[in-house]
Amino acid sequence: MSEIVVSGIRSTGNLHLGNYFGAIRNFLKLQEQHQCYFFIADFHSLTTHPTPSDLLGNTRQVLIEYLACGLDPEKCVLYRQSDVHEIPELYLLLNMNAYLGELERCTTFKEKARKQPNNINAGLLTYPVLMAADILIHKASKVPVGKDQEQHLEMTRNFAARFNRMYGVDYFPEPVAYNFGKELIKIPGLDGSGKMGKSEGNAIHLSDPPEVIRKKVMRAVTDSGPTQANQPMSEPVANLFMLMKIISSTDTYQYFLDSYNQCTIRYGDMKKQLAEDIIAFIKPIYDRIIELNNRPDYLKQVIELGADKARQSASKTLKEVREIIGFKAF
Ligand code: TYM
Repeated sequence: MSEIVVSGIRSTGNLHLGNYFGAIRNFLKLQEQHQCYFFIADFHSLTTHPTPSDLLGNTRQVLIEYLACGLDPEKCVLYRQSDVHEIPELYLLLNMNAYLGELERCTTFKEKARKQPNNINAGLLTYPVLMAADILIHKASKVPVGKDQEQHLEMTRNFAARFNRMYGVDYFPEPVAYNFGKELIKIPGLDGSGKMGKSEGNAIHLSDPPEVIRKKVMRAVTDSGPTQANQPMSEPVANLFMLMKIISSTDTYQYFLDSYNQCTIRYGDMKKQLAEDIIAFIKPIYDRIIELNNRPDYLKQVIELGADKARQSASKTLKEVREIIGFKAF
């Protein structure tokens, strides 16, 4: 049965392997058989970057990278959040049913508030409400995202259920975070702990040239090596193995795992191999990024078509929501 799928990525920098494996890879499969919407979250980008020097350029870059990954504008709707005015209106309406306590308890809010103490703006606080509006505006049931978005999805379900309860309707579905491998994933960064992220400086970008990838991987944090057979791995080493498991062949992964367990591993060799495998994985995407950079007319066509299609779906939902709440014509 065809389902409605929505996902998006903030336009605050070039896409990295975490974005690819957390969100895009799942979407590539889903676009083949479901009704899929994938957007560039440019409103959301203002919560952390309120005065971007090149908002349009950032959006354009993300669009190029979506297309280079294989998102197909013939199969799914690719659009920019700020082109769909119905989203901020639904955001406003949902804000009336979102409570300070639950917004303040949100982990990402607490994290961001710690990171940018001089800019704890209301947009940051209500970030999950805007995200719920993104999802509910198309009445989506599946949302392909990485593990870090799990709590936001739980909040979206709460807002949807609360709306239904408050207005006595069975209107919004309760969407779930989706990964085809069942478990949501977290791609680690190269700095030994935590996740790969845009602002952490620990990411491999899909637009990184081979020499940059080699440098980044060779600099990745490890430890002084195992001293006894089958020794549990330290976090930085476990992270490198996780990347290798996702990117490299099973044989390569097994070879280095065995050599770790037998204490014969040389991290330098492992990193060299991992770097080459990442380069090979990224190469077709990297080449298409360069090619798409030279096709401004095509990009314009894609974004305009996406805006039209997204607004068709969004305006239908918003019209119904307005009626449910009681905003009716005179
Ligand atoms: P953003 O821009 O931080 O990340 C975009 C997507 O990439 C995933 N991701 C990761 N997955 C695994 N490992 C990682 N290291 C990693 N880093 C990032 C994220 O989980 C996400 O799926 N709030 C969203 C953007 C958004 C959205 C939405 C998503 C706005 N509205 C509606 C889905 C539906 C965000 O900040 O993503």
